[in-house]
Amino acid sequence: GGSRTFFVGGNWKCNGTISSVDKLIDALNSASIPQNVEVVIAPTSLHIARAQEKLQNKGIEISAQNAWVKGNGAYTGEISADMLADAGLKWVILGHSERRSLCHESSQVVAEKTVYCLKQGVKVIVCIGETLAQREAGDTSKVVTEQLGEVAKSLGSDASQWKQVVVAYEPVWAIGTGKVATADQAQEVHQTLRSWLSSNTSSEIAQSTRIIYGGSVSAKNCTELASLPDVDGFLVGGASLKPEFADIIKSGS
Ligand code: G3P
Repeated sequence: GGSRTFFVGGNWKCNGTISSVDKLIDALNSASIPQNVEVVIAPTSLHIARAQEKLQNKGIEISAQNAWVKGNGAYTGEISADMLADAGLKWVILGHSERRSLCHESSQVVAEKTVYCLKQGVKVIVCIGETLAQREAGDTSKVVTEQLGEVAKSLGSDASQWKQVVVAYEPVWAIGTGKVATADQAQEVHQTLRSWLSSNTSSEIAQSTRIIYGGSVSAKNCTELASLPDVDGFLVGGASLKPEFADIIKSGS
């Protein structure tokens, strides 16, 4: 990860009960977070307030998993970025592949959401990644740079905006499958993304933007992935609900 601050996110997805959230937060409260690792957890919208109340570990911040970006008003069922900011949330995950595929969020929508959340002062973990069919067709670079490209169209070369963004590369075929990308596969895509950023934004932005990996990250595979020059952290799903999340956090120090 070079000079960039290592970033470990725990995406809890649509999981949890009041009691399991309490237990997870208790465990995180007693976890020691290395100074040089930034840790963010993303409970469901329903559990965020509970997590905020219980969380005492100052080394951990809380993220939402999505945001509505048309302001407050007659939008039944939604939670606005304005509300996230008002509730003191510093982060939101946008463009996760599950939302792209199940809720039909396009890269344009993800870019629009990114801009709005940043305007509200909420930092963004923006997810991109190819499907297995796209990888097998040799389209990985094209797909991920197009996905990132929509965000870049909106943010341009404004380094102050990019500082508030973490890019999460999550190959769809590796999510929840136990099939982690190999070190070579991860490094290749991360490097492609960084050099794309360098050519299309600025070398400063390319050097400072965290590009993290997601997809079946576990205590077993995190050390090798964390050692790769262009992997600046992880977005962890399943393992973020287990005690091994603490080991994944440590791999970044
Ligand atoms: O956002 C994290 C995620 O999609 C990866 O999930 O369960 O494969 O770690 P998992």
